[in-house]
Amino acid sequence: MTAQAPDSELQLTTASPEETMRTGEALGRLLPPGSVVCLRGNLGSGKTCLTQGIGRGLGVCGGIHSPTFVFINEHPHCSAGPCLYHVDLYRIHDEADVLALGLEEYMYGDGVTVIEWAERAEDLMPPDCLWVSLRYVDEHTRHLTFEANGASYAHVLANLRRELASTDGEA
Ligand SMILES: Nc1ncnc2c1ncn2[C@@H]1O[C@H](COP(=O)(O)OP(=O)(O)OP(=O)(O)O)[C@@H](O)[C@H]1O
Ligand SMILES: [Mg+2]
Repeated sequence: MTAQAPDSELQLTTASPEETMRTGEALGRLLPPGSVVCLRGNLGSGKTCLTQGIGRGLGVCGGIHSPTFVFINEHPHCSAGPCLYHVDLYRIHDEADVLALGLEEYMYGDGVTVIEWAERAEDLMPPDCLWVSLRYVDEHTRHLTFEANGASYAHVLANLRRELASTDGEA
């Protein structure tokens, strides 16, 4: 895995689903309650895979599957930490649909909200959030770009960069 600067952005390439999941897991351990992570990327680019890792890092219960048909899956924490709201906007028609889902109540609550296809309601995303763009490179390889909006997410990214650098040699 290779990662590079600057502070509000982190780019890396993963060579397997497990590596994407480990990246998500490292991120999940760093996200405070109330965090919002906005994922964009084509079908099969690894959004759900990254979310599974985030859930593992947060320590939430139950398997994480794509919520495409239900829009939002709520995963409670296994002990006392934040829950995970896993949102998928693939099937929304317009922003009115998103408002009807009550997405804003999730995003401004105490859980961690991860939104697949977030670009479909970009204007409704909070000003402070973490965007992750995932790009298919080849069958096993994905390119991930993390962009922090707001100082607290820049801080999360700095810690993620440090964490990934320290575990790079262990993989
Ligand atoms: N480096 C990689 N990172 C993540 N997934 C990978 C990687 N290499 C191969 N894959 C495969 O790509 C697929 C990614 O599927 P995933 O459901 O995570 O994508 P998605 O972006 O959520 O798609 P959708 O838009 O349909 O929800 C999985 O089958 C996974 O095994
Ligand atoms: Mg998905």
